[in-house]
This record gives sequence, structure tokens and C-alpha cells, in this order.
Amino acid sequence: MEKTGHAQFGLKELGEKDLDRDPFKQFERWYEEAAAGSGLKYPDAFALATVSPDLKPSLRMLLLKGLDERGFVFYTNSESRKGDELSGNPNAAMCFWWERVERQVRIDGTVEMLPGSAADAYFASRPRGSQLGAWASEQSRVIPDREYLEERYRKLEAEYEGSDIPRPPYWNGYRLIPLSIEFWQGRPDRLHDRIRYTKLPSGEWLIERLAP
Ligand SMILES: Cc1cc2nc3c(=O)[nH]c(=O)nc-3n(C[C@H](O)[C@H](O)[C@H](O)COP(=O)(O)O)c2cc1C
Repeated sequence: MEKTGHAQFGLKELGEKDLDRDPFKQFERWYEEAAAGSGLKYPDAFALATVSPDLKPSLRMLLLKGLDERGFVFYTNSESRKGDELSGNPNAAMCFWWERVERQVRIDGTVEMLPGSAADAYFASRPRGSQLGAWASEQSRVIPDREYLEERYRKLEAEYEGSDIPRPPYWNGYRLIPLSIEFWQGRPDRLHDRIRYTKLPSGEWLIERLAP
């Protein structure tokens, strides 16, 4: 693989005076800036790290579906590898990279499952094809071939023709409740800005600058 040269960041700065005391508001501000214009197709894409029972990390991309007053919401299959790992160990980490604004956000925390009613509402809003796909896919299981998956999909399509598709019981929403959130802004000469918010027992957020 050819290296494409040395990264040189320098579009923006992150100073203490720019920060919102509330990291959720700070996240929203950065998210909106990442999503603005047509530069980034999936500003909602993030990597989620989970840990297996034998303490091995695993990582995959997901889409952020909401941010409420408690945390960051995503949806997935509870019987998948990540679902299994989360049910054994709720500690997880998320990472966003927004290239157009040279920003990274890292979030560490614990994950809880949303009530079925929230998953029902979101599932009902999804396109029919995605709803059928959720039923057809035994996420993270080994399957014999592509045809097996498509055949399952076709059977479900016929089965549900003319009727609403219910949410599969294993398809659920999760909320990552942050314990710390770090905002990283690329700067020249590797002197990046890193600001970390850590949740204190009082519920307040400690704000610290980290060396890049
Ligand atoms: C940009 C992107 C977004 C994705 N969003 C989701 C998602 O929101 N939910 C999901 O279950 N899988 C999503 N996937 C697929 C996951 O990366 C992964 O393949 C799948 O969830 C199985 O992961 P696991 O075997 O570690 O459980 C996405 C993949 C990409 C590349």
C-alpha cells in the first residue's frame, strides 16, 4: 500500500473559551458542523468497540440514531456478536471521525438497552426493505451462501405481503451513557487540541486538556 504523504491539519482550533460546559451540547454543535453542506455523507457513522468475555476487543461501524439527555442511541441485533458482548459486559466505546472538519470524538461509557416501545417506534419508521432485512438476517452467524439470505428475504416478503411487519424481538435499541467524551481538533505540527469531559460523582463534568 502506498502512503499518501504526511497529514497536515489546521482548519480550525478548539480553545477552552469555545466550549460548552455541557458535552452533549458541544457534541451537537460539532455534529451539526460536520453534517452541514454536502461534504460528509454519513456524519452519523461511528465505530463501536465492545469486549468479549475473554477480554478481547472488537470493533465495527454503526449509525447514530439519536442523542437524548442521557446518551447516544443506536439500533442493532441483540443476538449479534456485539449484542452478545454487550449483554456480558456493558462497557463500550464509540469513535467518530469527521474528516472535512478534521475532528474526532471519542466516547467511553456503559450501554443499556432501550425499552421495546422505543425500538418498536423506530423500527416502524424504517423502509419496508430494511424491516424485512432485519428478519432475514441472523446477524453475525455463519450462513452457507448469499442465496440462503436472499431466499429467506423472498419468503418473508411473501409472508408479510399486504401487512405491517412487526419488529423482530432481537432487534433492539441501545443507549451508550458516557463517562467521558473527548473532542479532538487537528492542528498543525501534531499540536492538536484535545479536550476531555469526565463525569464526576456529583453529575458535573470535569473539563481537562490532554497532550496530543
Ligand atoms: C457505515 C456503516 C453503518 C452501519 N450501521 C449499522 C447499524 O446502525 N446497525 C447495525 O446493526 N449494523 C450496522 N452496520 C454493520 C456493522 O458494521 C456490522 O457489520 C454488524 O452490525 C455486525 O457486527 P457484529 O458482528 O460485530 O455484531 C454498519 C456498517 C457500516 C459500514
